[in-house]
Amino acid sequence: MRKKVVAGNWKMNLSIGEGIALAEAIEHDIDKSNDTHVILFPPIAMAGAIKHHLERCSLGLQNFYPAQSGAFTGETSLMHAKDLGATYLLIGHSERRMVFGESNELIKMKVDQALIEGFKVVFCVGEPLSEREKGNEVQFVLNQLESGLFHLDANQWSKVILAYEPIWAIGTGVTANSAQAEEMHRQIRQEISKRCGADVAESLSILYGGSCTPQNANELFSCANVDGGLIGGAALNAASFGEIIRQA
Ligand code: PGA
Repeated sequence: MRKKVVAGNWKMNLSIGEGIALAEAIEHDIDKSNDTHVILFPPIAMAGAIKHHLERCSLGLQNFYPAQSGAFTGETSLMHAKDLGATYLLIGHSERRMVFGESNELIKMKVDQALIEGFKVVFCVGEPLSEREKGNEVQFVLNQLESGLFHLDANQWSKVILAYEPIWAIGTGVTANSAQAEEMHRQIRQEISKRCGADVAESLSILYGGSCTPQNANELFSCANVDGGLIGGAALNAASFGEIIRQA
């Protein structure tokens, strides 16, 4: 049985006070008998404060620089991530790739260093609309996997969660329909099985992300190859995030 996972990516939203209140409300709302794994990715500035309010949820960081320390002005190190109590790191999000110009080389370095330092990784892939319009979406996503993950061994893969987030669906209100999501997830799993082994592919949780809401989560999560969601906008509200967790 693959683990069901729901992760909340708060991006650069909320004051620290609002973040603490949201974390408390999410914790309070989770049914203790629900075994869905919940990960919160608050802004780094509030991660330490949030950690004190988490019991059931894991803490993740949205970004870090893959080194222990050094002359990297403005960056957060893996040592800081550990000190903050984070156990998950988000890598390869399209906003990091596009807005901040993170290259495939940097992304691979982030994966390797995160795993060496004992973190778990939520790795994002997803195509822009132009690639889907050309019918090239699967190849585009497989290329991202090739450069970031296909070199990992089975033990390293066991520390990885994948998130498929079509860029045209992120924050747009346009969700991939369940057939589109399932088809991409199925092809990803098939390729990972071929490249890295059936055991790795079968035990890997693959989340869907991009305008996932309480209204569409159930349909998306009922697909055979969709194992939960990476939630942006709807994760900023305890009631809607709680409902998505229940649907997983
Ligand atoms: P969204 O964001 O749910 O607001 O579309 C998802 C994400 O970027 O992780």
